[in-house]
Amino acid sequence: MQILLTGGAGFIGSHTAIELMAAGHSVVIVDNFVNSSPEAHRRIEEISGQKVPLVEADVADRDAMEALFSEYQFDCVVHFAGLKAVGESVQQPLRYYRNNLDTTLTLCETMQRHGCKCIVFSSSATVYGVPDEVPLREDMFCKGCTNPYGWTKYMIEKILMGVCDADPEWSVVLLRYFNPIGAHESGRIGENPSGIPNNLMPYITRVAAGTLEKLHVFGNDYQTHDGTGVRDYIHVVDLAKGHVKACQYAEGRQGCDIVNLGTGVGYSVLDLVKTFEKVNGIQIPYEISPRRAGDVDACFADPKKAAEVLGWRAEKNLEDMCRDAWNYQKNNPKGY
Ligand code: NAD
Ligand code: WQD
Repeated sequence: MQILLTGGAGFIGSHTAIELMAAGHSVVIVDNFVNSSPEAHRRIEEISGQKVPLVEADVADRDAMEALFSEYQFDCVVHFAGLKAVGESVQQPLRYYRNNLDTTLTLCETMQRHGCKCIVFSSSATVYGVPDEVPLREDMFCKGCTNPYGWTKYMIEKILMGVCDADPEWSVVLLRYFNPIGAHESGRIGENPSGIPNNLMPYITRVAAGTLEKLHVFGNDYQTHDGTGVRDYIHVVDLAKGHVKACQYAEGRQGCDIVNLGTGVGYSVLDLVKTFEKVNGIQIPYEISPRRAGDVDACFADPKKAAEVLGWRAEKNLEDMCRDAWNYQKNNPKGY
């Protein structure tokens, strides 16, 4: 298949590009580098040993997208492009709604004009909102999100469902990711958050590198086995392989499917810290701090549907995630 990756220079897109090519597909990347670097593209070519066409453009730019779809015939699009920082979305809601919705609308309109009606979308477990029970199943009611970022994912899911309802030729797979961490085992591509990281694993790797002094553990009075928040951490390479299966599933069928991509296993903040220390032989100093607003006790997937529908399940464990995340940080102390 010829597959377009919007936002393909980002954390998850770059790993997915590698796995799609390894499975025999060809990929084209479109990215405006608002949260990534052209160096990611160079490294994708280095790891894969293949040339990957790259278009530097905003996915919301109609002319640029028209030109792209006129040049290539895509069998499927994986739509990663979007802004993703939860806290920033609270500060800059209009920027988040504008970017995430406009990219999707322009992309889908262009796809429709060119008869490409197969899309895999990067949604998020955040659409489940504050869960009544875990594990989370795709058929559970989404009660609403706690921040504008989450609402953009929720709205885009609804938009894509509507597109499918209106035109049964569309094939849509909405992938709800849980907590992607880790990096490619080569240590050449990984996660590059700018500034002080908000997410747990990049924060831990910066503490390990000595760039940050200690980890603040946000609360130890949650209803979990050790009181700290429990999440479903998934290795980014497993996640990338889930996209390969999703593209193969989406091609040549019709309708809309929602699929969780998680491991089904929840680990606490302290489980992650202890595993990181053990695997990498580095102490992570931490202190217990107040809870972070909006955090929930526990969030993890029921991964059965992904196994049944896509034939996919996560294979890597928490040790792999901790080892590979540190390997990337160690080899790339300043990012790309
Ligand atoms: P990322 O920021 O590394 O990648 C997103 C890419 O999209 C970046 O390269 C960025 O430059 C590009 N981009 C953003 N707006 C664009 C635009 N208007 N035009 C062209 N390119 C644009 O993020 P990621 O972690 O790789 O996430 C990929 C997708 O998965 C995002 O949609 C994100 O919301 C979603 N997601 C991520 C997580 C996570 O924890 N990383 C969890 C659930 C869902
Ligand atoms: C994990 C756990 C924190 C940082 C976010 C988004 C979600 C999705 C994935 C995109 C929690 C604790 C964290 C720190 C800590 N992204 N923590 N100290 O919040 O589960 O999910 O990323 O869709 O939408 O909300 O991930 O990595 O921020 O936090 O104690 O410095 O680590 O309280 O229990 P989260 P996270």
